[in-house]
Amino acid sequence: MLSGKTILLGITGGIASYKICELIRMYKRANADVQVVCTPNALNFVTKLTLQTLSKNNVAVEEFDIKNYNPEHISFADKADIMVIAPATANTISKIATGVADNLLTSIACAFTKPVIIAPAMNCHMWENPIIQENLRKLSCTVLEPESGYLACGYLGKGRLCKIEKIFDKTAEILNYKPLTGKKFVITSGGTFEDIDPVRYISNYSSGKMGVALADSAKNLGADVTLITTKDVSKKYNVIKVKSALDMKDAVMREFDNADCVIMAAAVADYRVKETAPQKMKKTDEDEITLTLVKNPDILSELCSLKARGQEDKKTGYIACHHDIRTSYPLVVGFCAESENLIEHAKEKITKKGCDYLIANDISRKDIGFSSDYNEVTILDKNGGMKKLERADKMTIAYQILEEIF
Ligand code: PMT
Repeated sequence: MLSGKTILLGITGGIASYKICELIRMYKRANADVQVVCTPNALNFVTKLTLQTLSKNNVAVEEFDIKNYNPEHISFADKADIMVIAPATANTISKIATGVADNLLTSIACAFTKPVIIAPAMNCHMWENPIIQENLRKLSCTVLEPESGYLACGYLGKGRLCKIEKIFDKTAEILNYKPLTGKKFVITSGGTFEDIDPVRYISNYSSGKMGVALADSAKNLGADVTLITTKDVSKKYNVIKVKSALDMKDAVMREFDNADCVIMAAAVADYRVKETAPQKMKKTDEDEITLTLVKNPDILSELCSLKARGQEDKKTGYIACHHDIRTSYPLVVGFCAESENLIEHAKEKITKKGCDYLIANDISRKDIGFSSDYNEVTILDKNGGMKKLERADKMTIAYQILEEIF
């Protein structure tokens, strides 16, 4: 994904250094060459061995370790396409802002002429200090501001390192990594709402986060994205708000025609109320009432059979009236939400529905799946292949899914 790019990753002495191990893995998964440079203090928080093992390169710390008569700070600066300093302490930020070059990392920063990203992390009072803010303003680079929350020092405030996916995204954006340019992605998200009457409905716990993470990642990778969702979402790509399974089906079918990939991450209700009451249903004297449910269309299955029929007709040369002539059909990807026997049910589902990929997740776990910021999934493909993606935040999972399927 970032093949041919060299990222100079500067790590300074803050507790957030441990998070950078995952950032290195993300860069490596994207095929970037990662050269780590640490301040001596950074090694109090994370070991050289860990960083070397993950980056598959020597980790540089000391200056004046001259090889081939090239001063290291100049050769590192020449070789890299981008420098990313994360976490950046108040100390390192201030040194770079004022041109102090007293270790290898600050010397390289001083000599670096290409794009630089700085992701600060520090105590909230240090962040608010006017001198630090003044120094930040002096930097001519991209600053990814820290987030608010509980800090390792025990304070609640702004100072926590921003999400590492944000650092990855910004790196990819600056390096102009857009492999999905020209591709149209249609992604669904959220649980559908099936009205009982004007005040009550049947729905589920889907927050829409997984679908939004997929849409954001596809957009970041250059795709033309349409998100069909039951939630209020405001994005720089096309968002279509729907409510019920029937609404979602109409919207998906309209978008299906010129799509290159459809991902059904929405939790679509299998049944809807047969007759929605036009007025609020009144409480009666009865202890029980009965709601009759009817089956909703299975949108994913319908997409898969449309694709299969179209491809079959193309093969035989017979053009049926049920669809237009198309030269290609989108990749169709479903999700599979199970509370037991995940892989067994997922295998049955991919065969039954006929999609190209099925992403299986366990919705009985509280730390992943429904409403969580995290997920852990197994990707099944139509040829029987399987790949497990370990628990990570939904944005990381989304990137990994896109990398796997496209
Ligand atoms: O939204 P989050 O809180 O982030 O949670 C994410 C998620 C758990 C909802 C998501 O990762 C997920 O698993 N989505 C699919 C939920 C689901 O409906 O699973 P299913 O196994 O019941 O359905 C299988 C597939 O068929 C899904 O792609 C679904 O969109 C599709 N389907 C289901 C029923 C139906 N009538 N029409 C469909 O198209």
